[in-house]
Amino acid sequence: MPVRIVLASSNPGKLREYRELAAGTALEIDLLPNFEELPAFEESAPTFAENSAGKALHFSRFTAEMVLADDSGLVVPAVGGAPGVHSARYAGPNARDTDRASKLLRELEGKTGEERKARFVCVMAVARQGRALAVVSDCAEGVIAGEPRGANGFGYDPIFCFPDGRRTYAEASTEEKNLASHRGKAFRKLIEFLVPKN
Ligand code: IMP
Repeated sequence: MPVRIVLASSNPGKLREYRELAAGTALEIDLLPNFEELPAFEESAPTFAENSAGKALHFSRFTAEMVLADDSGLVVPAVGGAPGVHSARYAGPNARDTDRASKLLRELEGKTGEERKARFVCVMAVARQGRALAVVSDCAEGVIAGEPRGANGFGYDPIFCFPDGRRTYAEASTEEKNLASHRGKAFRKLIEFLVPKN
């Protein structure tokens, strides 16, 4: 039996990514209908967990279906955990991915070794009609490159290297990234929870 869930997002790119992760599983994912017309949820909490659980609970009050919400970002301990929960807005509201990556590279100028260590974090929450059903999270360790490399992926991928420092996520295939990434790992936990094994 397929398990259906709706994603609290208006972003078709995010839906595509989730559908790729769910391929071959019994999970069916759609966007939450009329997402844009529903009252917005302010993602202003200081933790990924609060933002994703808050968002799932909020939107679950407008549908009878199970709602999935997520929050993710890049954490660099050497600069106080930045960009962290502000990853999407790190260089201002109208900035592009390249502006955010450049800003982080400037902050890390002169830093080497341990100080370039970073991790991507992803928290996914599921709620139904105002009740939280599950919160799963995972992270992916890595190091920040000296300059952007590669054309795949999105966001900070061109400056985020696998732990051995050789290739960035933007130089890897989608399959390679999903095997190692915060989102791929968290999603596999979510599947364990949502899709009962026969
Ligand atoms: P969200 O949509 O609020 O979760 O924002 C997450 C932000 O973190 C995105 O805008 C990206 O800048 C960054 N981010 C999260 N996951 C990834 C990833 O897998 N690769 C690159 N950047 C990511």
